[in-house]
Amino acid sequence: MRAVDIIEKKKKNNPLTKEEIDFMVQGYTLGEIPDYQMAAFLMTIYFNGMNYDEIANMTESFVKSGDTVDLSRIHGIKVDKHSTGGVGDKISIIVIPLVALCGVPVAKMSGRGLGHTGGTIDKLESIKGFRVELSPEEFIENVNNYKMAIVGQTANLTPADKKIYALRDVTATIDSIPLIASSIMSKKIASGADAIVLDVKVGSGAFMKNLDEARELAKTMVSIGKNLNRNTIAVITNMDQPLGHEVGNSNEVKEAIKVLSGQGAKDETEVALTIASYMCLLGGAFEDFDQAYKELQTKINSGLALEKLKELIRIQGGNPEVVDNPDLLPKAKNTFCVYSEVDGYVNKIDAELIGVSAMLLGAGRKTKEDSINYGAGISLKKKIGDYVKKGEVLCELYTDFDNVEEASAKINDAYTIKDVLPESKPYVYEVIK
Ligand code: URA
Repeated sequence: MRAVDIIEKKKKNNPLTKEEIDFMVQGYTLGEIPDYQMAAFLMTIYFNGMNYDEIANMTESFVKSGDTVDLSRIHGIKVDKHSTGGVGDKISIIVIPLVALCGVPVAKMSGRGLGHTGGTIDKLESIKGFRVELSPEEFIENVNNYKMAIVGQTANLTPADKKIYALRDVTATIDSIPLIASSIMSKKIASGADAIVLDVKVGSGAFMKNLDEARELAKTMVSIGKNLNRNTIAVITNMDQPLGHEVGNSNEVKEAIKVLSGQGAKDETEVALTIASYMCLLGGAFEDFDQAYKELQTKINSGLALEKLKELIRIQGGNPEVVDNPDLLPKAKNTFCVYSEVDGYVNKIDAELIGVSAMLLGAGRKTKEDSINYGAGISLKKKIGDYVKKGEVLCELYTDFDNVEEASAKINDAYTIKDVLPESKPYVYEVIK
């Protein structure tokens, strides 16, 4: 086989065999195929797409390129969840204790934040003592004993995807549905999931800017799951503005605590309960979505959900007192306000710009090597549909820096305020099974 022939074949829009895809993926990972040939190959996929069989084969090839996590010693159906990335997305912290409470094992592997999006691991590390590096034995033992554990991603999971993603980043081939779908699903499958619930975000803060694209990505990922025998459901959710009111690590932990105590914002409560309900369904805890949703609401109202979060924090070495006293979480030194320059209704909040502002305040990383300030972040005082008067506070900014000019300017740009009320949109658009 020769790489050039495979590139030529895809250039002419002919479907590739499993062996041809494997030849390209493994060859590139081993350094036998150079960047320029992989770049050309990725561009042919960008323009000509791939059919569902090709995408499943690409996913399997990514999985095979590295280690896989063996969760067979965990009893029950292991259901994972994945969000395609948003701003203020603290859904994982909310669903882990909820799903575990229903008896479904949650063996979660999560990532760190980069750029405008945050990562669950960073958020949890804002809790003093919380350990995200557990030995495989401790991880499995915790899931068997408590039905939940969370760790950072291990180093050698899907190295092919890691190398190809870096090349996509500099060859303008990130926004290709077959490439995104195989990249995401390979990591979930390599992490040992039996079943997967995907939270596909659509809107200004998401990869997918419109519903048609989000639907196509969701369908593609569900088809990979079916092809590779992993029961998969995708929930398409709104990311036209940050989820909830809080962005930033300790800020988001505080807000997750609120949701689990029944005091959460409507948007993230609905998204979290929907994702958790489908995880419970795939895990076999309930037969019907409405029954699962109701039961999860009961777990919140009874206080059990908060107790389970405390347990998660305690078993991973963190200080569980933060649940009753969130003021124990790290705080930044300074608070600044961004004020509205006009009267009107908030029509849009560009989530990506809010995410970038949070990063500038110290809550996120520009590069992987940057350190973060757990107390830095943004609290959105006005959200889409709210009326605001000139001079009223739009957002509070928390940071150790003394100058927030750039972040404030971005927040002002993020808000679109008009005389008319905007059309209201659902929090959850569609479910693809
Ligand atoms: N997230 C991933 O893991 N991969 C992509 O290609 C895009 C988003």
